[in-house]
Amino acid sequence: MKLLVTGGAGFIGSAFVRLAVKNRWASRLINLDKLTYAGNLENLISIEKDPGYRFVHGDICDSALVRLVLEEERPDAIVHFAAESHVDRSILGPAAFVETNVRGTFALLEAARALKTPRFLHVSTDEVYGSIDEPDDADEAYPLKPSSPYSASKAGSDLLALSYVTTFKLPVVVTRASNNYGPFQFPEKLIPLMISNAMDDKPLPIYGDGMQIRDWLFVEDHCRAIWAALNHGQVGEIYNIGGSRALPNREVVQLILAQLDKPLSLMTPVTDRPGHDRRYAITTEKIEQATGWHAEVPFEQGLAETIQWYRENRAWTARVKSGEYLGYYENNYSHR
Ligand code: NAD
Ligand code: DAU
Repeated sequence: MKLLVTGGAGFIGSAFVRLAVKNRWASRLINLDKLTYAGNLENLISIEKDPGYRFVHGDICDSALVRLVLEEERPDAIVHFAAESHVDRSILGPAAFVETNVRGTFALLEAARALKTPRFLHVSTDEVYGSIDEPDDADEAYPLKPSSPYSASKAGSDLLALSYVTTFKLPVVVTRASNNYGPFQFPEKLIPLMISNAMDDKPLPIYGDGMQIRDWLFVEDHCRAIWAALNHGQVGEIYNIGGSRALPNREVVQLILAQLDKPLSLMTPVTDRPGHDRRYAITTEKIEQATGWHAEVPFEQGLAETIQWYRENRAWTARVKSGEYLGYYENNYSHR
């Protein structure tokens, strides 16, 4: 199979690319990435010399470039990760989210339609369902009620992608995953931020009461689910992907502090995130039954591996926490 991956220099995309090359999922793999603050070619050093791998530096909103890459490569499938992905940044500046997540997805869909790409997997999120009250768990037919510009832009792109199945018979499959964690995650999201701040003995900012619930999924489990959905998912269908491990944020942070042998006093309550979703919870029976996939990595094991990775890769973290990150951190946290 010849694969075009978008956003393959980001956290989940790079995990997918590393797994795909290692497991020979593709004879050729093209990675189209704009290298925003979140894209990092260091994440791909282990596979960059593979003869089947090609990196293209470009923006998915650039229709001419996207079309050219598809014409040159004629991939059998597109796996579309590229997005602006952080909720807090979507509150500070929503424009890039609409641009990349909606217009960028549109540009890709148009090119795939023109070139009759045989398979298009659109990577989405459980955040499109919004906050879910107990005792409900969202299945794939649950109503969409996104709360942030990020999740609304993802919901918009999901609907656009699905409309290309109905209207143009483009063979699209949509996946919606819960909160990912693992090595190489940019330290703006909860787990890598808390690990890196704790390692530096800096305060750990807990939004509101810290009792918001997220379902944690190890990144490689997510990548294996995407591969399973790409191969065995039905066109026009949506597949939730979750770790079946729901925890309040405070508990996650306490586990991190315990593993790092740091004091609980580092936890610092700060003003809540506007529009903060209280609870995410999804069912995963559909993908399990359709593909045989199930999450393999227990949270405690995945968290220990992740912490170990950040301990061993302090230089990576120091590099990504310099420059642009400092301005973002000041913007997001100084007024809280
Ligand atoms: P990330 O922010 O780590 O990486 C995004 C990547 O996309 C970066 O490499 C960036 O350079 C690239 N990119 C951004 N805009 C681009 C553009 N206009 N053109 C080309 N490349 C561009 O994101 P992530 O956490 O790896 O998430 C990947 C995908 O998975 C996203 O679609 C996200 O919505 C979805 N998702 C993420 C999670 C999570 O917990 N992180 C959970 C569910 C779904
Ligand atoms: O559910 C899937 C989504 O998970 C993905 O689609 C998003 O791309 C990804 O960013 C993630 O969104 P969240 O908003 O849930 O992730 P984040 O890591 O930003 O926050 C997790 C929880 O931790 C949330 O309740 C907010 C809280 N939090 C986060 C940060 C960054 C804090 O309390 N303090 C913080 O400093």
